[in-house]
Amino acid sequence: MARKIDQQLALQGGLKAVSTIEGRGEPKIGIEEFMSVAERFGFSAKTLAKMREAAEAEDLGGGPFLANYYSNLPETKVKAYERLARETFGAKHAIGVTSGTAALNCAFVAAGVGPGKEVIVPAVGFFATAAAVVHSKGIPIFCDVDESLGMDPRKLEALITPRTVALAPTHVMGTVCDMTAIMRIARKHKLKVVEDCAQSCGGKVKGRHVGTIGDLGCFSISAYKIVGGGEGGLILTDSERLYERCQGIAECGGLWRPDRFAPPRYKGELFCGTNYRMSELEAAIDVVQLRRMPATVRRFHNVKLRILKQLKTFREIRPQTLNDPEGEVGYSLRFFPETIALGEGIVEALSAEGIGCGMRGKHGAPDWHIYHDMFPITTQTGATSDGCPYTCPLYTANGGKVDYQRGDCPTADDLFDRNISVGLNQWFTAQDCRNIAKGINKVLAAYCTEDPQAKAWI
Ligand SMILES: Cc1ncc(COP(=O)(O)O)c(C=O)c1O
Repeated sequence: MARKIDQQLALQGGLKAVSTIEGRGEPKIGIEEFMSVAERFGFSAKTLAKMREAAEAEDLGGGPFLANYYSNLPETKVKAYERLARETFGAKHAIGVTSGTAALNCAFVAAGVGPGKEVIVPAVGFFATAAAVVHSKGIPIFCDVDESLGMDPRKLEALITPRTVALAPTHVMGTVCDMTAIMRIARKHKLKVVEDCAQSCGGKVKGRHVGTIGDLGCFSISAYKIVGGGEGGLILTDSERLYERCQGIAECGGLWRPDRFAPPRYKGELFCGTNYRMSELEAAIDVVQLRRMPATVRRFHNVKLRILKQLKTFREIRPQTLNDPEGEVGYSLRFFPETIALGEGIVEALSAEGIGCGMRGKHGAPDWHIYHDMFPITTQTGATSDGCPYTCPLYTANGGKVDYQRGDCPTADDLFDRNISVGLNQWFTAQDCRNIAKGINKVLAAYCTEDPQAKAWI
């Protein structure tokens, strides 16, 4: 007997068991999520109510799908941010990641950092650079700085060992490193260069953006930076191979590969990484921030140069060396008084003049911008009790032994404490700049000896 049609398998011509779905839900991401973002911007209750009314009148269909992959958009916000980064900085590859530290971790692994390997990092910069070396299972070796507060190229070669694989100059506080000298040494010793540009996004050396001079450039795109949403990062490189290795860490699923499940195209292509994929919401902010970056940097730069050009020179004052004045971002103006005592007087007097400034001094609180305070590194404390990577046999059996003490980098020890920093604002007018220059000249003239032969500001 023929089975009833509704009992017959659909495969055999019967009726489909599920021909329609009646359940109609709300989009996964909808008005409430949009309002939550709007709230974070700090709009008034009245504006929020108007926004909600306007948003609710829209048909969002299934709502947005906020993924950076498998998206039906022609270009996701992350892709737009990466494209803009390539165009803005002039790099072949750009990868948006979750933070500057994530960018550094990717770059170090890409550069070959691992057990038994050393990376030379600056004594002044930020903890994250050295910490990312450790997180990549390598050993950071601190290099002293010069009066630019950047890595001193004259001190570099003495630190290079057979274990060194990379140099990681940090462009500190809106200034740029002596990249010409650093690159010369790196090439001579066949070392990779990972530039940490977190503090100097938009800075240039001889017209080239920092982050594009070394093999890899890393940026923090956090709220505190020149380009910053909340938490984000960026990696730049011109090298296809380094780009793929960074992706291997940043996106362990291999979604970036032309064919995700294809066998390795070359030895070492595939390895286990993690997930540092940038979020679409972060990229939505950062793409706008990055578009604004050149104008922001131009304003900061002009303010700094305008003030510097009006400053007189003084015997007891050494201005920070500017490796490339034209490439300065310029959100702070720095100089070194002969002594901390003199500096304390100058800071007090400048503050009384209405000029925002500071100096760490002798009894400053611990600060992760100077190597000897980077305690989880200086104490060689690892995540496990065996002391890895400092005690790794691949390191020790190869002659590796490290010991971190205040005094290792005497110039950094000295300059970091007596470094007066005047904060600059991109929106200072020409008159503001004149007033600030006048105030600095007035104070320095009261405490020091004017001397046309003393070190110039630029
Ligand atoms: C020089 C430097 N490198 C790396 C980082 C870390 O960036 P993030 O906070 O985005 O991880 C910072 C942050 O301030 C920094 O100043």
